[in-house]
Amino acid sequence: MSTVIPDVNGISVGILGGTGDQGKGLARRFALAGNPVLIGSRDAGRAREAAQAIGGPVSGADNATVAAEADVVIVAIPWEGHRATLESLRAELAGKIVVDCVNPLGFDKQGAYALPVEEGSAAQQAAAVLPDSRVVAAFHHVSAVLLLDPEVAEVELDVLVLGDDREATDLVQALAGRIAGVRGVYGGRLRNAHQVEALTANLISINRRYKAHAGFRVTDV
Ligand SMILES: NC(=O)c1ccc[n+]([C@@H]2O[C@H](COP(=O)([O-])OP(=O)(O)OC[C@H]3O[C@@H](n4cnc5c(N)ncnc54)[C@H](OP(=O)(O)O)[C@@H]3O)[C@@H](O)[C@H]2O)c1
Repeated sequence: MSTVIPDVNGISVGILGGTGDQGKGLARRFALAGNPVLIGSRDAGRAREAAQAIGGPVSGADNATVAAEADVVIVAIPWEGHRATLESLRAELAGKIVVDCVNPLGFDKQGAYALPVEEGSAAQQAAAVLPDSRVVAAFHHVSAVLLLDPEVAEVELDVLVLGDDREATDLVQALAGRIAGVRGVYGGRLRNAHQVEALTANLISINRRYKAHAGFRVTDV
């Protein structure tokens, strides 16, 4: 299948909750690829500190400023804060591609397990809360540890990209491909995001059993 890969050179990437490991890891990799990154936080000072620690074309601001200013916005906050944070940023995120990587998981003595979500998945909750945004689901299975590790030149995995807006999923696939070693692969409509989010619980089990930072590859594509 031949597709035209969108040019994502130079588009700015905002990250809500970008002070956490997942946000900092993604910020580091996009900055290495030359994309300007805006780290968001509930506290602008904390965001600026995180941005400074990463270096490169990375700046920090409060989540609302980042949501308003970035070209594409990644949601990298814990599931507990998901709905309330997005509800508070509805106006800033209107018209934008919003990339949800949130995995609604619980943890007990047996390890990680998928939590039930009223809307079906975190990504579908985002779409319900943000009717004027173009919600895409991606980056659920990347390891923040590998993203942050300066010894890891290439992060070997495929990123499944899901959504109902083909132009938006194409762009996010291209964005995933900015991370060395990563390939973005279309993974279906948003209604199929639940099992991709839930699969992270299996990945965590794999990581614990094999003491690894495992990822998935899609074959024959
Ligand atoms: N860690 C991974 O390897 C990984 C991989 C794939 C996907 N994910 C997903 O990415 C998301 C972030 O993961 P993480 O490990 O980076 O999480 P985290 O460190 O626990 O949280 C990220 C940031 O979110 C903000 N935050 C915390 N509680 C919040 C709340 N109630 N409301 C709004 N903001 C809040 C905090 O930033 P401020 O205090 O600065 O606002 C925090 O630094 C999760 O949903 C996770 O499922 C993680």
